[in-house]
Amino acid sequence: MNPLFAERTKAARRSVIRELLKLTEQPNIISFAGGLPDPDTFPREFLAQVAADEIRNNPGKTLQYTTTEGKLPLREPLSRWFAEDGMEFPPDHIVITSASQQGLDLVAKVFLDPGDVVLVGLPTYIGAIQAFQAMQAKLVGVPLEDDGMDLHALSDAITTARLAGQIPKFIYVVPDFQNPSGITWSEEKRRGLLEIASREDLVVVEDMPYRKLRYVGKPVPPVASLDEEGRVVVLFTFSKTLAAGLRLGALAGPKEIVEKVVTMKQATDLCTSSLTQRLAVRFFQEYDVEGHMRTICAHYRKKRDAMLSALERYMPKDEGISWTKPEGGLFLWVRFPEHLDTEQMLPRAIEHKVAYVIGAPFFVDGKGHNTMRLSFSSATTEQLEEGIRRLGQVVEEELASLRSPQRV
Ligand SMILES: Cc1ncc(COP(=O)(O)O)c(C=O)c1O
Repeated sequence: MNPLFAERTKAARRSVIRELLKLTEQPNIISFAGGLPDPDTFPREFLAQVAADEIRNNPGKTLQYTTTEGKLPLREPLSRWFAEDGMEFPPDHIVITSASQQGLDLVAKVFLDPGDVVLVGLPTYIGAIQAFQAMQAKLVGVPLEDDGMDLHALSDAITTARLAGQIPKFIYVVPDFQNPSGITWSEEKRRGLLEIASREDLVVVEDMPYRKLRYVGKPVPPVASLDEEGRVVVLFTFSKTLAAGLRLGALAGPKEIVEKVVTMKQATDLCTSSLTQRLAVRFFQEYDVEGHMRTICAHYRKKRDAMLSALERYMPKDEGISWTKPEGGLFLWVRFPEHLDTEQMLPRAIEHKVAYVIGAPFFVDGKGHNTMRLSFSSATTEQLEEGIRRLGQVVEEELASLRSPQRV
């Protein structure tokens, strides 16, 4: 059978993280590994009521196919939501997608031929790596600094790719509270990114699943709101603000791109679920959306604060250990001295009943072995405290064993 598989499936690898997550699903483990939103934030009573009502009383709109672009009564409030954030996308520049992972798949299908170059952060979101690699693209990593990509390195990477005869197509960024690092780009870097994209005639794919989850500090304008040339494609999702299981999101961008996306989506799934679109329409019409966002942010903020405060107290103070202090989102990122390998340390963590995600799979250049991602979304504040206490001990033991391997 194997010779029958397409080249792209032969090269595809299952996510290492999914394999490792199985390890962490043991009883009593406090896990900071999964990146799932907290189900307590899903408005389940409201969803249950409107789902029953829609299915009983509105079957023509709820149980039937809908257009590939998605329902207009959903694209309209989304368009207003974008506008409040400075992004001008009229409803006909918006396609409803089966959440943002489908947006990633569709931009990959629209832009990428085998061997084309996509520029991504070091680190970057694994689902994006998978979507782009499925189109046999070449992913080129650009280091992320505390305020966004190293723009000199970005320019150099584009030049190097062109000199090698490769064709760069787009730059993929998650400028707000990135998964995995929690980093937010400064406005200066967002403008710099657009300058480079303009000079090099590239598209920017701005993935913003966490943008609405800001707990402290002032919002930085989305890259799309600063774009005067129509070269930014935005990926939006309801996964973190309504419910991930609805599999609902949107792609917005210049008309020319959106039309291509719609054509590709027809081949993929004809349309996104009518039922979940109707639930989101009713969410905008009847729910206190702003109040809901405030509640979710307050909920996650407490968890973020608990994790940061526990890290201050329990993480060894050795040189080379540092972590990001995200102003929103669900993740923070810990760096260790070069000689500490978080994959090698994982069995020790499991022994101590705490879990994290190793950093290396988020790097397309094979590095990042001394990093880890911690998610504060699902644990209780007590578990955050206890889990980080355990993790601090794990790191301390690991560093001791690296100093004198024979003793431990
Ligand atoms: C940066 C980023 N993009 C896209 C996704 C995909 O999410 P969904 O398909 O649920 O919108 C995630 C999920 O964690 C993410 O972190």
